[in-house]
Amino acid sequence: MQIEGRTALVTGANRGLGRHLAQQLRDRGATVYAGARKPESVDLEGVRPIALDVTDPASVAAAAERAGEVSILIATPARRRTRSCWAGISRTSAWRWTRTTSARSR
Ligand SMILES: NC(=O)c1ccc[n+]([C@@H]2O[C@H](COP(=O)([O-])OP(=O)(O)OC[C@H]3O[C@@H](n4cnc5c(N)ncnc54)[C@H](OP(=O)(O)O)[C@@H]3O)[C@@H](O)[C@H]2O)c1
Repeated sequence: MQIEGRTALVTGANRGLGRHLAQQLRDRGATVYAGARKPESVDLEGVRPIALDVTDPASVAAAAERAGEVSILIATPARRRTRSCWAGISRTSAWRWTRTTSARSR
């Protein structure tokens, strides 16, 4: 999978798996939008912090508008209550994803 030169969006990028994966994508040459409920908590250099609460459709729409077209989406908070929101997003034309991965629910 080519990463260099692609645009990625990672949810929950302020800590845990999301932070690690955002770091790895950055190090491999992707432009990384680092989504977090509190974007000021994203402590990675060289990524673009972006406000994103995946349970809030308005927040998702605003993030989609800001990030534009992304080709890699990593959705780390994948609890049951977030799933309907992701289903809604995937039906929108705001983001056309070529690769989507989602961590398993707790
Ligand atoms: N770590 C592992 O080894 C492992 C293995 C298999 C599966 N998983 C699964 O992978 C997922 C992530 O694991 P993790 O270890 O990275 O968990 P974590 O350290 O608890 O991090 C969870 C992340 O999700 C964010 N988040 C929670 N609710 C959110 C929301 N509504 N909108 C946006 N972001 C939200 C949190 O942000 P805040 O800081 O704002 O709370 C935090 O950045 C979990 O579902 C876990 O069960 C983890």
